[in-house]
Amino acid sequence: MEKLIITGPTPLKGEVEINGAKNAAVAILPATLLIDGVCTINNLPNISDVQILCKILEEMGAKITWNNNNEITIDTRNINKTQAPLDLTSKFRASYYLIGAMLGRTGEIQVGMPGGCKLGARPIDQHIKGFELLGADVIVEKGTITAKAKCLHSNSIYMDIVSVGATINVMLAAVLAKGTTIIDNAAKEPHIVDVANFLNTMGADIRGAGTDVIKINGVEKLHGDATYSVVPDQIEAGTFMLAAMASKGDVLIKNCITKHLESITAKIVEIGGNVEDNGDSIRVWYNKRPNKSNIKTLPYPGFPTDLQPQMGVVLATANGTSIINESIWESRFQYTAELNKMGANITAQGKSAIFEGVDELFGAPVYSTDLRAGAALIIAGVSANGITEVYNLQYIDRGYENIEEKFRKLGANIQRIKE
Ligand code: EPU
Repeated sequence: MEKLIITGPTPLKGEVEINGAKNAAVAILPATLLIDGVCTINNLPNISDVQILCKILEEMGAKITWNNNNEITIDTRNINKTQAPLDLTSKFRASYYLIGAMLGRTGEIQVGMPGGCKLGARPIDQHIKGFELLGADVIVEKGTITAKAKCLHSNSIYMDIVSVGATINVMLAAVLAKGTTIIDNAAKEPHIVDVANFLNTMGADIRGAGTDVIKINGVEKLHGDATYSVVPDQIEAGTFMLAAMASKGDVLIKNCITKHLESITAKIVEIGGNVEDNGDSIRVWYNKRPNKSNIKTLPYPGFPTDLQPQMGVVLATANGTSIINESIWESRFQYTAELNKMGANITAQGKSAIFEGVDELFGAPVYSTDLRAGAALIIAGVSANGITEVYNLQYIDRGYENIEEKFRKLGANIQRIKE
């Protein structure tokens, strides 16, 4: 078992480089199954979700070459399986993208029921509704999902709820389907635009990604022979922006798209922080106690649920009482019990939590309950007085490359220990 030992407090200072976006990468890799050729993907975050996906694609017949730490060349000409390894697919969430991609490629796929962080019920009814409207039969039984289609056709699909995963998955399935598919009430996250850009680079005809209506004109085939660079991770960038705030530091965050960070920037300014927007980098600094604020998480361009725990750490020591309403996931306040072990005064009930700001946090042993909760606990450990031990690093490693190295470069006293 591994743990992080952090001795704080340290005001984080310096520069940090942001990697490619996890949630774009985990969709782009399955999307390569729609190509009967070779392509190169760079700015790929080297995180455990990406490594597992590469293993799955290799087991299905893909040939993957790592050109360097963040670039692969993938040859999908010899895909020879319509069943993805069930044990691996049920390890993480994004395995559901194999369904859309393989329906498009061969019209047949079986995967294990997607796993991932436990954030409450995570239904996939909108994915299934979309596949069925495109002509597929989908059976969910005994922990597996089997989808089959003789020939996918286009359709108009209205999403009952705004879903990142369902929007991307239906887009994948529709790329090679005959006719024009329309997805209405689509999600608008930057990674949706990125997956559409990747597919268009490979010959797809997708318009409107980034708005709530996406139009996919089916094409005969996708060609490979191109290189694509994954969009910078706005959640990783936001994590370091909030780490700068919580630790009363001064951090320049490089390789990001500041347009994607507007909702976080607005909140940081509201609670007193300083932000300098340079387009492809952003500097955040503040050395006082932040003001209280109320937050409601929303689909993009609203405040992202994936930064809610990190913001929670900042508000835990704010001046006054703050309220966070979580509108996306049922169980995203598990981290508050861990922060309370560090001296915070947070009352969470259902999808709301009240943060009575305390003067300071102190170190304690704490347990990550999901990926972003883990990032929040690292920020708390860096900002708190004394020694914090963070356990359950497997969650954090799913989505952040070299996280302790990046914090260390900013001055944090942080070490990974094998027990
Ligand atoms: N939902 C349904 N039915 C569906 C799909 C979703 O009811 O068929 C509900 C969900 O239960 C949730 C809401 O709709 O209440 C939004 O879910 P969405 O489908 O947008 O989430 P997702 O695609 O499963 C992705 C990210 C999450 C991120 C959410 C919201 C990936 C692999 N995961 O999940 O990322 O929180 O979008 O932005 O892209 C993370 O990175 O830590 C993470 C959890």
